[in-house]
Amino acid sequence: MLWQSLLEGEFVLQIRVNDIDVSFQTRGQGRPLLLVHGFPLDHSMWRFQFEVLARDYKVIAPDLRGFGQTTRGTASVSMKQFAEDLVGLLEALSINDPVTYCGLSMGGYIGWEFWRNFPDRLCRLIQCDTRSIGDTELIARGRRQMAGRITEQGPNGSALAAETMIPKLFSEYSAQAVPERVSQLKKVIANSDHQMIAETQLALATRADVTTWLPDIDIPALLICGEHDAISPAEEMKVIADAMPNVKLEIIENVGHMAPLEHPLAVNNVIRQFLKQTDSSC
Ligand code: MLT
Repeated sequence: MLWQSLLEGEFVLQIRVNDIDVSFQTRGQGRPLLLVHGFPLDHSMWRFQFEVLARDYKVIAPDLRGFGQTTRGTASVSMKQFAEDLVGLLEALSINDPVTYCGLSMGGYIGWEFWRNFPDRLCRLIQCDTRSIGDTELIARGRRQMAGRITEQGPNGSALAAETMIPKLFSEYSAQAVPERVSQLKKVIANSDHQMIAETQLALATRADVTTWLPDIDIPALLICGEHDAISPAEEMKVIADAMPNVKLEIIENVGHMAPLEHPLAVNNVIRQFLKQTDSSC
């Protein structure tokens, strides 16, 4: 069943997918295009892409399990589970054509799993500010510590996560140029469910290193990276691009990890150009 609620002036739909109610926005007609947010965010991070891409595509921007307005359900959190939820959403929406998958950071980690587990569901891949390697022990330890502190603090733990993460997400230039986007994203993190943030940190710490999968991803792919991304550095995304057979890498100048929010015009241009050039693959 579909029903509607209002979020920031936009209609948001909800639909039952297995053990969860998935919230999502959709607009446009044509080939399906899935926009998958990063951690610990929600679909609103795509607000500068949503409308522009919906001119030519059927855009679907969901909140992942436990984030935004989507319920937590009972399944354990993993990148594969998130990918299964997305396929469940497509099924529930009767979208049977292969999709163009566009994810940012954790949305990208899920994108690799989507390709691996549901290849028939995918015709193009757009991976923004993401990594293929798993966590080093140092990073994994940091995540476990952070998950512990968030759990200890209870509901205030989300504000702690926001304080800790925000400085790593935007470039210095963007922090000056678009401060309102920084504070908006901080609010999204602070309003996220603290238990889900902690659980997802643990799931991220044990996610697979998918580097060996890259040479087999032969569908058209676009990689986008902020020049000053502190979490998935441009140097690392160049290594991913070198390992993939059918890929283009675009570096967006002056921005950090949140390229689509920091410089929407540049990101939208490279996405639209890629889509136009590869439409015949979908
Ligand atoms: C994200 O933006 O999704 C996160 O930075 C991913 C991560 O923590 O590895």
